[in-house]
Amino acid sequence: MAFLRLDRLINLYDGYRKTIRVDQLEVLMIQEGGEVCVVQSRCPHREFPLEKGSIKEGVITCPWHNMAFDLGTGVHLGGGCDSLKIYEPVFQGNLVGIIV
Ligand code: FES
Repeated sequence: MAFLRLDRLINLYDGYRKTIRVDQLEVLMIQEGGEVCVVQSRCPHREFPLEKGSIKEGVITCPWHNMAFDLGTGVHLGGGCDSLKIYEPVFQGNLVGIIV
């Protein structure tokens, strides 16, 4: 298990969205309402970049076919699509990352 650094805490703010490639992984880090979420960067439906998605009340909606995913669980609302992979954000000093 290793800590993968995604960004510095000082760079985060509500409305932050950034697709980050680290090692073989590409994730989308989001901050909304003071909460940091890290999810797979592409929609599990047809791999559209979720950085362009809209976020409201803990749900991200992909703009291509309007599939919506709960940012807490990754579950597709309405069923019929794989869940979004969720990563637990880890804070180390002035850094935020994930453990993989
Ligand atoms: S690619 Fe995201 S909903 Fe189809």
